[in-house]
Parts: sequence; structure tokens; C-alpha cells
Amino acid sequence: MIVMMPSEKALEHYRNPRNVGELEDADGVGIYISDICGDITRFWIKVEDGKITDVRFKTFGCWASIASASILTEMVKGKTIEEARRIMKEEIADALGGLPEPKVHCSVLADDALDDAIYDYLSRRGLPIPKDLVEKHEKVRVAVKRLEDMGFKVG
Ligand code: FES
Repeated sequence: MIVMMPSEKALEHYRNPRNVGELEDADGVGIYISDICGDITRFWIKVEDGKITDVRFKTFGCWASIASASILTEMVKGKTIEEARRIMKEEIADALGGLPEPKVHCSVLADDALDDAIYDYLSRRGLPIPKDLVEKHEKVRVAVKRLEDMGFKVG
């Protein structure tokens, strides 16, 4: 849903983000860098019996990227990996009561960072990895390396 102004719900998640931080014993860790603005989000997931039992995030980004990642952590907790994979950026924006058009890409950043954590989980277990996750992972690795070559510590 596209709206003109940030919703109260989005602002509330920005002011009081849920599940911020890292999981030391994570089963998957992901990162994504926005193609549009260069902002960065990282996700940590804990998975038991195929379900996401815990999740954390950190975002180096705008209010909408923080709100999107925050609400996404609430949306994926308790979901299976497959169910989490099916969450679309539109659902993240809708759950926040909509996002202004210039901020839609911020919900994509959260979704892509979660996808990269799922990639890492599947990779660690030697499970089949969907092609789109492999492509996203390879793309973000190039972007991370470019930043690190410039002396910027991303991780
Ligand atoms: S402006 Fe970069 S993620 Fe929102």
C-alpha cells in the first residue's frame, strides 16, 4: 500500500524497533545493501525443526528500513523457512500501514536481508538453495567486498 505520509504504526516501529541486535548462536546470518540508497540491513535467524524461533536485525539506514526490518522480525517468528520466503515486500509495507512511494525500496532491503540469512541457513546445512537466493547472495557479496576494499567494515 502506498501512502503519502508515514503511518503511526511505521513511526512506532521506528521509535521502538523490535528484536534489534545479534544472535550469537544464529543458524543463519544475512546482509543486504540497497541498490538504490546504499543502506545496509543485517538479519540473524535461529531455526528449529524448520521454523524460525528467534530473529534479530541491525540496520544502517532510514526510518523506513528500521520500521520494515522491525515488523518483519515479528512477521517471521514462528514461521517455517518456506513461509518466511513467501513474505513479499508489499506485505511488509501493508503491515506498517503503507509506505510512501520513495520508501518502498526500504521494505525490499529488509526482505532481501532476511533472504540472505535464509541462504546462509540453507548453505550451512547443505540444503538446496533456490536460484534467486544464490543470485542475490552473489550480488551482495560483490557489494560487500567493494565496501570492504574501501576500508568500510560492513560486518
Ligand atoms: S532510504 Fe535507504 S533503506 Fe530507506
